[in-house]
Amino acid sequence: MNLLADLRRRFRIALELLDTGAGEVADMVLPSKDPKFGDYQANCAMPLGKRLGRPPREIAQEIVDRLDVADLCDPPEIAGPGFINLRIKDDWLLKNLSQKVPDQTQLGVVPTEQPRTFVIDFSSPNVAKPMHVGHIRSTVIGDALCRILRQLGHRVISDNHIGDWGTQFGMIIYGYKNFADDQAFEKDTVGELSRLYKLVNQLVEYHVIREKKIPAIEQQIVELAARLEQMHDATELEDPKDRKKADKRHRQAEGQLVELRATLDSLRNHLSAVENDSLLGPLASEHAQIGSAVLAETAALHAGDQTNQSLWDRFLPACLESIDETYQRLNVTFDHALGESFYHDRLAGVVEDLTERGLVRESEGAKCVFLKDDDAPFIVQKKDGAFLYATTDLATVEYRMSEWTPDAMIYVVDHRQSFHFKQLFETVKLWGYGDVQLEHVSFGTVLGEDGRPYKTRSGTAVGLGGLLDEAVERALKIVCENDDARDTPLLSQEQRQTNAERIGIGAIKYADLAHNRTSDYVFSYDKMLAMNGNTAAYMQYSYARVRSIFGKGDIDIDSLRSSGSPLQLTHPSERALALALLQLSETLQRVATDFRPNHLTAYLFELASAYSSFFEHCPVLKAEDAGLRNSRLLLCDLTARTIARGLNLLGIEVVERM
Ligand code: ARG
Repeated sequence: MNLLADLRRRFRIALELLDTGAGEVADMVLPSKDPKFGDYQANCAMPLGKRLGRPPREIAQEIVDRLDVADLCDPPEIAGPGFINLRIKDDWLLKNLSQKVPDQTQLGVVPTEQPRTFVIDFSSPNVAKPMHVGHIRSTVIGDALCRILRQLGHRVISDNHIGDWGTQFGMIIYGYKNFADDQAFEKDTVGELSRLYKLVNQLVEYHVIREKKIPAIEQQIVELAARLEQMHDATELEDPKDRKKADKRHRQAEGQLVELRATLDSLRNHLSAVENDSLLGPLASEHAQIGSAVLAETAALHAGDQTNQSLWDRFLPACLESIDETYQRLNVTFDHALGESFYHDRLAGVVEDLTERGLVRESEGAKCVFLKDDDAPFIVQKKDGAFLYATTDLATVEYRMSEWTPDAMIYVVDHRQSFHFKQLFETVKLWGYGDVQLEHVSFGTVLGEDGRPYKTRSGTAVGLGGLLDEAVERALKIVCENDDARDTPLLSQEQRQTNAERIGIGAIKYADLAHNRTSDYVFSYDKMLAMNGNTAAYMQYSYARVRSIFGKGDIDIDSLRSSGSPLQLTHPSERALALALLQLSETLQRVATDFRPNHLTAYLFELASAYSSFFEHCPVLKAEDAGLRNSRLLLCDLTARTIARGLNLLGIEVVERM
């Protein structure tokens, strides 16, 4: 049962009766922000009044006259300038809630009437390096979307588009050929590969800074200094207004100059740090051509070079094993993990096909698709014949379309790739895949307490494994403290560890999902592990608290569920809880519309708050009579199950004791 969808459907009919085309404002029916305005509120009389040039209150009355909700709501009220307030009938709440009591599988979530096929491309790390904090968001958001869309009855195909074919492999191949420690490689392949990756990356960066970045900044400084020189003349201007403007420009330019000099200093410091390092210094000068050498190794791999191919064959399984460990810990699975390498022999065909369709033009030797309004074209093949990330993504679309004929393809990838996806989607449409819905579900950056991208003290990306370890460690401390504070501790060492794992990892996932995905957020263990507020710990605690009632009262909840014992709503907080329990379905529907899992976290938080208020006002085990006691126990049971289901749809597990 999807209450909101039902109300909107009924409004749409009433609105169309009033004025053809007016049905489109039916989506303005929303849950009320404040219970004093009823359970739901419709603001559609306002825009409609404007459109028809008549007072909105009059329009509201005409909508209400045509609205058929007598079985569902008390008579609608018109308030203020023309708001329509709706209060759901208690009978209706009771009837629908009772249907949820025995419904174990769907918990009242209605499967969609129009199931669609979604391909969800998420996580997709570049695997020659260990996973880091930057991979959390895509992995966690993508997994939650898969679970939610599946729960709604859609067909979901999850595909991890692993970066297993890019320059990072050129780096480890070069690293292996030049710097490998064979013993370390045998003992801990992934560890050795990440060391090689890091080493080569540092050396490449050293030369980029030395040969490209520093000269570019020096040039900018010279130019800016010359401009400043000229600007001095402007200080003698007659008109005070002009003088003021000139002054401002002067100050700005000076500010820029200071910044450029600071950047230059820090880059030079970086260079000297490398040069003075006893390991890096000599390597940096011995491997002066490392940048182009890495590209050459990558190109050789792509061209089928035997040695590089067999190195790749040796490296890849170790890389995959290491990311699988992380996925297991996160309890995230994929239907497919077709990495970039899977598409490499299809790339030439893609460019050929685009060319045959007249979509490709050459520009400075590169093959490009030119798109309206873009400054830069979508490059599909470089001058030297190499294919790009873009080409692989096109081949991937072609494959997915022919293999699974999806209705929608969702890419859960960070916002810095927005332009890539905009160009990809436009090209895909031109290519002839007009009907498929393409969505870039983008997200912001995980920040440290200082407001900058979250990094370790030494400035490198925070490894995902270590991040999870620390969350679990902190959770274990909380679990032990709570349990030790009991008269008789309840948890075995093993249970403490399992709980800590669920609470620690749940905290990280929930904190990520609870933020509006398009914003950045500050990563804080203290905040995410807090027992109060909109956190996983609070939700898990709420669940455990509800469940503890059954133990305390020695209640066999399974038989109570099947007993057919009727529900009652005797107190406003009891009614508010009932309404909240019935809103899971519409919440999931909202997530499926804009791919924002934070609707679900917000819902769970409201549900837990409604439960708290119910628990404060309505005695459960000590209810006045057996009938009311049973009804309240069933409400508790529904609350626990809804929280558990909601968390499960976010990829988070509950604990029985907290
Ligand atoms: N491997 C890429 C990266 O780390 C993300 C891939 C996203 N998916 C895609 N189909 N392009 O930046």
